[in-house]
Amino acid sequence: MRTYTRTGIEGIDTMLEGRGIPKGHVVLVLGPPGCGKTTLGIQFLYNGAVKFGENGILVLLEEEPEMVKLNMLRFGWDLERLENENKIAIIDASPIRFITKSVSLGEVTIGSKEFQLISLIERIKKECERINAKRLVIDTLSTFILQYPDEVERREAIIDLVRGIAPLNCTTLLISELTHSSAERKYQIEEYVAHGVILLQRFFRAGSLIHAFIIEKMRGVNHDTQPRPYKITQDGIVVFPTEVVF
Ligand SMILES: Nc1ncnc2c1ncn2[C@@H]1O[C@H](COP(=O)(O)OP(=O)(O)OP(=O)(O)O)[C@@H](O)[C@H]1O
Ligand SMILES: [Mg+2]
Repeated sequence: MRTYTRTGIEGIDTMLEGRGIPKGHVVLVLGPPGCGKTTLGIQFLYNGAVKFGENGILVLLEEEPEMVKLNMLRFGWDLERLENENKIAIIDASPIRFITKSVSLGEVTIGSKEFQLISLIERIKKECERINAKRLVIDTLSTFILQYPDEVERREAIIDLVRGIAPLNCTTLLISELTHSSAERKYQIEEYVAHGVILLQRFFRAGSLIHAFIIEKMRGVNHDTQPRPYKITQDGIVVFPTEVVF
């Protein structure tokens, strides 16, 4: 029987039939800058560790861990303590970006991009085993994707990444920037590859800024398909599952 991973964010779990994300699913979280993607990802990990006894891995490809920890303290989430208790592991993956030469592994020489992907997956695996992680957040995929301007190569790299993390059986949030904000946007390759897609959108209506939380797809769940308003509060992201965006 299928089991589910509750996000612990009530409004979101309600939108997901009250159950949450199917365990092991890789869910893409897309949104414009500053809409709360990192907050959502860390809230998912924090709730896992504190409310559900499920440890989690945070992979940072863009932001400095120290800065993220400091920002998250504002919501009362002490990541440092959870790290010390081995409930959360933070992988600072930014140095991976700076490996530019090709690398020899035994007799095989591989290009820098492939090496980066392999070494990233290896690091995630190692940490996952070390703390017995059930949740994984990668923030952000955009940095990783930028290395592949060629569409075919990019598709392959994303598929390789998703295939590489799938055996870990962690429920995963892959955070990515939204390159087009309109509903008529061109779908990004990663949206087809992921098991689920969550969209955070922001727009002006009658002079006020509205934030909308949309579950665009979630395989195996009869989820709410309506956009629902959300706010970033002092306790993190709050989604209002019975309200409409107008
Ligand atoms: N304590 C707080 N209370 C309410 N809102 C906050 C608080 N701290 C931050 N915010 C809001 O959260 C936003 C940043 O959230 P977050 O870093 O999660 O967004 P993001 O989508 O990851 O951004 P980026 O695209 O830059 O990575 C800030 O711009 C601010 O509006
Ligand atoms: Mg962020």
